[in-house]
Amino acid sequence: MEEFVASDAEVPRLKEWDRDHLWHPLTQHQPYLAGQAAPLIIDRGQGSTVWDLEGRAYLDAAAGLWCVNVGYGRKELIEAGQRQLERLAYYPLTQSHPAAIRLAARLGALLPDTPHLYFSNSGSEANELAFKAVRQYWRQMGQPQKYKILSRHRGYHGTTMGALSATGQPERKRGYEPYAPGFIQVVAPYCYRCPFRLEYPGCGLQCAEDFARRIEIEGPDTVAAIIVEPVIAGGGVIVPPQEYLPRLAEIAQTYQVKLIIDEVVTGMGRCGTLFAHQAAGIHPDVVTMAKGLASGYMPIGATAFSEEIFQAFLGEADSGRHLRHVNTYSGHPVAAAVALANLQVIESEDLVARSAKMGQYLLSRLRQALAESPLVGEVRGLGLLVGVELVTDRARRTPVDDAFMRQLARYLVSHGVLAGKATDVEAHHNNILMFAPPLVITQEEVDRLAATVAEAIGAVGAKEAIYR
Ligand SMILES: Cc1ncc(COP(=O)(O)O)c(C=O)c1O
Repeated sequence: MEEFVASDAEVPRLKEWDRDHLWHPLTQHQPYLAGQAAPLIIDRGQGSTVWDLEGRAYLDAAAGLWCVNVGYGRKELIEAGQRQLERLAYYPLTQSHPAAIRLAARLGALLPDTPHLYFSNSGSEANELAFKAVRQYWRQMGQPQKYKILSRHRGYHGTTMGALSATGQPERKRGYEPYAPGFIQVVAPYCYRCPFRLEYPGCGLQCAEDFARRIEIEGPDTVAAIIVEPVIAGGGVIVPPQEYLPRLAEIAQTYQVKLIIDEVVTGMGRCGTLFAHQAAGIHPDVVTMAKGLASGYMPIGATAFSEEIFQAFLGEADSGRHLRHVNTYSGHPVAAAVALANLQVIESEDLVARSAKMGQYLLSRLRQALAESPLVGEVRGLGLLVGVELVTDRARRTPVDDAFMRQLARYLVSHGVLAGKATDVEAHHNNILMFAPPLVITQEEVDRLAATVAEAIGAVGAKEAIYR
């Protein structure tokens, strides 16, 4: 069998091929071509650590792209995938197979409000289907004019055209106009930069009321659904006040608008509960998920629907009421088998509770380590999803610039830590450093992370001398 391990001789060749042939996401290739910046080429991983081609170790405090929830190198997931590959490598869900059946039943039991599962390959696809299905739902309920989807500023729902249209990140969307029609953004529950310049709790949750106002303006008979992340993730780890989601659920109910909860990041234990919306005690109509569903070992996404929505698609064989949506790799048997093994690990090792506990610990360590830094405006988070908002001026809350954030990321990488940073969210407001480590991160690793982050902010701040 061929060994997929790079030899010393092959390392320079891989670097060359990467530079010459691989087009990377969110990457400016000109400095790379000029030899000033190159992506890490990661070769292996174990637990919360990954190693590059030259054997340098990094604490992966971003869990890849916030997805490797159970950590790298888990035999249970690897073996489940291998067993499934040997038994049945592929079959479409226009028929069925046991791996997808088992996973649907498992997720259906975990999500009693939305027990009907459609599988896809990514978070974007999961959201695309959510939008298509709610539109078809309203059409089949005799209200075809109810098609608008409301989402929020700074929210992210994916990269495909519908999901991008629902995304509230102007920098990310620039250059791809015109967007799909029927998508409208309202304000985010961003207390640190309240768009109404109010202060919680005396604000009357104007950010939630913005949905009601917008629905009134558009006309409730034209609005199909609201989509929100329980915590805005890539848009800057924006954690809403506790009453926010319940109030949104009330508004959705009042105006007969479907509530779609995007749990692509927040699901699978990331925020200290299996699904973040469950902690808010709300009953969504649709839940989407991906990332942690198979911990990134295989690509898989899912859209979970309520009984009521599912029922609206029933009819005679030739009624035309069925879901006209298909993906070749929907519920891919290997991805489904790996996702099941992943759920088993999350459950047997109680990683959800661990996320809550270690998330609290990470938050308190960062707050402690950064308390004196004039560059730190706010440290916030829920479970193991944590953000540090950086400012040049604490009183005015002036955001640090993109160049500062790049330097910070570079410093962290050179000191063996990989973190996320807000990228292409909003002009002059990409100033949030973000952490979403594997849920198996240890206390010692959290200590190291907090210390390195404090050191990095201090060092880059001193070099730039940007704060007053
Ligand atoms: C909240 C949220 N929804 C959807 C997506 C899209 O998922 P994918 O990149 O798998 O298409 C992402 C990706 O980061 C996300 O953060």
